[in-house]
Amino acid sequence: MLVTGKEILQHAHKNNYAVGAFNISNLEIAKAVLDAASECKAPVILQTSESAIKYAGFQELSAIVKVLADKTPVPVALHLDHGTTYETIIGCIRNGWTSVMIDGSHHPLEENIAVTSEIIKVARAVGVSVEAELGRLSGVEDNISVSEKDAFYTDPQEAVTFVKETDVDSLAISIGTAHGKYKGIPKLDLDRLQEIKKLVNIPIVLHGASGVPEDQIREATKLGVNKINIDTDIRVAFSDALKEVFQNKPEEYDPRKLLTASMANMKKVVMSKIEMFGSCNKA
Ligand code: G3H
Ligand code: 13P
Ligand code: ZN
Repeated sequence: MLVTGKEILQHAHKNNYAVGAFNISNLEIAKAVLDAASECKAPVILQTSESAIKYAGFQELSAIVKVLADKTPVPVALHLDHGTTYETIIGCIRNGWTSVMIDGSHHPLEENIAVTSEIIKVARAVGVSVEAELGRLSGVEDNISVSEKDAFYTDPQEAVTFVKETDVDSLAISIGTAHGKYKGIPKLDLDRLQEIKKLVNIPIVLHGASGVPEDQIREATKLGVNKINIDTDIRVAFSDALKEVFQNKPEEYDPRKLLTASMANMKKVVMSKIEMFGSCNKA
């Protein structure tokens, strides 16, 4: 069943676990994620980036998720990941997304508050949840120095101001993760996470979680992360399995047979993430 992001994340916040938010851009990925969530009896978030919407279309993605979610026995939210334009956000709201992210993290605090508040005003009027971001994720190749940390990472006092001024439903923070494949081993600033959670007391979102060591993910969940974004690990699961099929059966040309192993591999990865996040049997 399709529900709002807020409904899913408030339950996670109150019961101290994290929900997996997996990026999708086609039928195969959406099915693999929802099969995994059903089998684990876990609430789940399917999210689409602006470029995924450009690739597949608003109506197409919305229809795929709606049909699959209606058949799925766990709560499912359809979320816009890293929304940057008014047009995309309104397009999502009009096409049945139940949650949107407005990413104003590149703006100074006051401007981030202003753009986020504008979206909240519209989204809340029609019952759509809103995630915002404060602090910037570094690139996977950036080697962040201690002084740079303060420029990139979320400032706890700014988080208090941001949440108070916007009344946003959930907040993405920067504590040392990056999007894409890591070059080394990331080290999260868990003290900063703990302080932010204590001060704002709303669902906290962790982006760039692919490749983060399991012990840090489990600790971050314990300390109050309630939504964990995974894209890269699914892409890798998809393409690794596909490469293997091409290698083992170079004569195969039926797309369905080519993609079956990819779906199984993505499902396996998603199930292991769901277990790691503590959301099994929470539906
Ligand atoms: O955070 C970014 C997501 O991984 C989406 O990436 O714009 O290539 O779809 P994308
Ligand atoms: P990864 O691709 O690093 O898993 O990041 C996903 C993400 O944060 C989507 O917003
Ligand atoms: Zn992200």
